Amino acid sequence: MASGRVEVLVAPPYPVVVGARLDLAGVVSEALEPNVGAILTDSNVGPLHAPTLRRALEDTGWRVADVVEIPAGERSKSLATYAEVAGRLARSGLKRDGTLFALGGGVVGDLGGFVAATFMRGIGFVALPTSLLAMVDSSVGGKVGLDLPEGKNLIGSFFRPRLVAANLDWLETLPARELSRGLAEVIKMGLLSGGDYFADLDRIGAARAGDLDALGTLIMDSVGFKAQVVAEDELERGRRAILNYGHTIGHGLEAAADFNLPHGEAVSAGMVAAAHLSHEKLGSDLLVLHEDLLRAAGLPLGVPDVEVEKVLSAMDRDKKRRSGDGYRFVLLEDVGKPLWGVPVGEEEARRAIGAVVG
Ligand SMILES: NC(=O)c1ccc[n+]([C@@H]2O[C@H](COP(=O)([O-])OP(=O)(O)OC[C@H]3O[C@@H](n4cnc5c(N)ncnc54)[C@H](O)[C@@H]3O)[C@@H](O)[C@H]2O)c1
Ligand SMILES: [Zn+2]
Repeated sequence: MASGRVEVLVAPPYPVVVGARLDLAGVVSEALEPNVGAILTDSNVGPLHAPTLRRALEDTGWRVADVVEIPAGERSKSLATYAEVAGRLARSGLKRDGTLFALGGGVVGDLGGFVAATFMRGIGFVALPTSLLAMVDSSVGGKVGLDLPEGKNLIGSFFRPRLVAANLDWLETLPARELSRGLAEVIKMGLLSGGDYFADLDRIGAARAGDLDALGTLIMDSVGFKAQVVAEDELERGRRAILNYGHTIGHGLEAAADFNLPHGEAVSAGMVAAAHLSHEKLGSDLLVLHEDLLRAAGLPLGVPDVEVEKVLSAMDRDKKRRSGDGYRFVLLEDVGKPLWGVPVGEEEARRAIGAVVG
C-alpha cells in the first residue's frame, strides 16, 4: 500500500495521512477548524514548498500570520534558533488558539514541535514532513526537542501533533543522499519489526532511486509500525526504547563529530556497531544482512575521523544511559526480535565503536 491513513491511538489520537498529490487543504480542513496559523520551514524547503502550503491554508479560511524560515541543518535545532522562532511568533500576534505548521525535515519538526509545546504553554501543532526521515520516523510519536553542544536532544518533551500529513510529491525535490539517510530509519524499523515490513525491504533499491510506489510502501510500513509501538508505550517507559536501535552509538558519533555528521549516516554506522554487539552478546549472526541492506540504501558502514573516546564521553552524557554499570543497548536476537536494556560494559562498547570509526 503506497498511501493511506494511520491513526496513532494515544489520547487524544491523531491521524497520519500519506499520499501522492495530497489535497493538503482538504486534509487540514478535515482535522482542524480554520484559525490563525504560522508556518515554520527551513531555507531549502521554504522556497520550494511554503508558497503552495500558504495558498492551500488561505484558500480554506486560515490567516497565515508569518512564514518563519530557519537555516537548513542540524545546527538550527538549538536554543538560539528556538528563541528566534518564539520571538517571531510573539511579534506575529499568534495566540494560544493559533497553530504552528512545521513544513520540513526532522530538524523543522523537532524544533517546531518544541516551540509549539512551549509557546504560550502550548499551541496547535501540525507536522508536514518533507524529508523521508521525517515521514518515516520523526514526525510520528510526539518527541520534540533541541540539541545542546553537550549532546543530541538534551532539551525536549513529548507533544502530540493534531495532524501529520506527508505529501509524497515533496520527496521529488529531496536530494538523493537525503533519501539514503531516511532509509537508515526504514532499515532500522524493518529489522525491528520483521514480518511483511522486513520483506518489503527488498524495495530499498527502488526507493533509493526515487520510485514513489516503493517509497510509499516503506513509509506506510514505517508509520504503521511506529504508530503501534507509540500507542503501546508513548512515554518510553519500556518497549518504545527499541526504536533507539543503532542510536546509542549513533548519537555518540553525531556529538563527537560536532553535529557535522548527518543523523541517518550516524545511525547506519551505529546499527553496524549494534550488529557486532548483538553477535557478541546474543550470538546472532546479522552483520552481513545489515551491511547488504545499508549498502543497497547507499549508506556508509562506518564513519571517518571520529575519536572513540569522544564517542564514549558523549554516550556518558546521553540521557538514555543508566548510571553505574555501563551502557544499555537495544540489540537484536534475530530479525523481529529486539531486546532493550541489554547491559554493555565500557570495554565492549569501545570495541564496537572501534569497528565503525577511523
Ligand atoms: N522526534 C523523533 O522521534 C526523531 C526521530 C528520528 C530523527 N529525529 C531527528 O530528525 C533530524 C533529522 O531529520 P532530517 O534527516 O529530516 O534532517 P533535516 O531536517 O536537516 O533535513 C535534511 C535536509 O533535507 C532538506 N530537505 C528536507 N525536505 C526536503 C525537500 N522536500 N526538498 C528538498 N530538500 C529537503 C533539509 O533542508 C535538510 O537540508 C535529527 O535532528 C534527528 O535527531 C527525530
Ligand atoms: Zn533516528
